[in-house]
Amino acid sequence: MITKLHNIQEKEAKNKRIIMRVDLNVPMSEGRIKDNTRIKEIIPSLKELLDFNAAIIIISHMGRPRGEKNLKLSLSPIAVELSRLINKDVHFIDHIPDSNSHYTKDSFDLGSIYLLENLRFYPGEANNDDNFIQNLSKMGDIYVNDAFSVSHRSHASTIGIANKLPSYAGQNMLKELHMLESLLENPKKPMAAIIGGSKISTKIQILENLIEKVDKIIIGGAMANTFLIAQGYDIKNSLHEPEKIKIAQYILSKAKKWECKIILPVDAQISKTLNHNVPTKNVLLSEIPKDYMILDLGQKSTNIIINELENIKTLIWNGPMGAFEFSPFEKSTIEVAHSISKLTKSNKMISVAGGGDTIAALNMAGVIKDLTYVSTAGGAFLEWLEGKTLPGIKVLLK
Ligand code: 3PG
Repeated sequence: MITKLHNIQEKEAKNKRIIMRVDLNVPMSEGRIKDNTRIKEIIPSLKELLDFNAAIIIISHMGRPRGEKNLKLSLSPIAVELSRLINKDVHFIDHIPDSNSHYTKDSFDLGSIYLLENLRFYPGEANNDDNFIQNLSKMGDIYVNDAFSVSHRSHASTIGIANKLPSYAGQNMLKELHMLESLLENPKKPMAAIIGGSKISTKIQILENLIEKVDKIIIGGAMANTFLIAQGYDIKNSLHEPEKIKIAQYILSKAKKWECKIILPVDAQISKTLNHNVPTKNVLLSEIPKDYMILDLGQKSTNIIINELENIKTLIWNGPMGAFEFSPFEKSTIEVAHSISKLTKSNKMISVAGGGDTIAALNMAGVIKDLTYVSTAGGAFLEWLEGKTLPGIKVLLK
């Protein structure tokens, strides 16, 4: 697919007004930027367009204000940080021009950078509304989408505007797709996936898609509990999804048909409550006492996973193995992360991970730089794993 996407070239960009969709949805705390990775990532693309003497009109969302102005989610602090990082003025426009506004293409000086206010302050963004699309597109000659992480959204700034203006994929979008495709489309075998997290309901499609592609799927996190019930275990007070037991059975039988080995826990770290430093026990699944719940993999299960990873050449990882936000229930996730890091560093494995919790877990383990590729996209990475062509990418292929 990547080969069919076009990056913008000098002849198209020179002296043009370019509307660039990026993802500046960065973590904030009390008006301060907690992590500026996503801001730093757009700088090479901006510099390239400035070299072509383009005017760059940056559009982005932050958070989910659901069509209402919420100054806690304003992009104004981002303009300040971007200006500091690129060492150039970034003109912040505190609204999206509407049909009465005086903005025209000529309002944007060539060689300058503008950042518009949070797109999601306006209902027209998520509704992919015609007027909103018109107001956005009238500012520029060309549209560039450099936000893989938002391309699973059918919004005005991802698909609407791309249908109106000549459209291109940005450098970051191309890099992300190139990495995902080159590493995972013709993978070295055997290939495995580790899928964790709390709910099967959010991962059904991924599991279904992966069963047809990988040799092994390791299932952890609370979503493993529903599979354990499907296998006949009594997991006492453990989190599970009763209405998904049938789906779990179906996934297990589909895996059998496709000869994909499913690896589930055999023991567990349990406690009566979920909190930091509560008393815990490591028990076999058949020995969970009344009033207890599974909060992490037990040591036997962790060792089995580490063993299973030994001969794996390509690995996809999404979702933690336990309630890793609460100590000591991060133990198995950290041990698995260290094993993946070791195998990747010794060139035995290609490892690709993505999703917010997985990134947090990799940071906690201190190994995020050791993996072959970590996607900063959350929902878009998951939908890509589901095998979908994301709408924001599909529209660029036209
Ligand atoms: C992300 O952080 O994954 C992207 O910015 C998408 O955000 P969304 O899930 O609110 O659309």
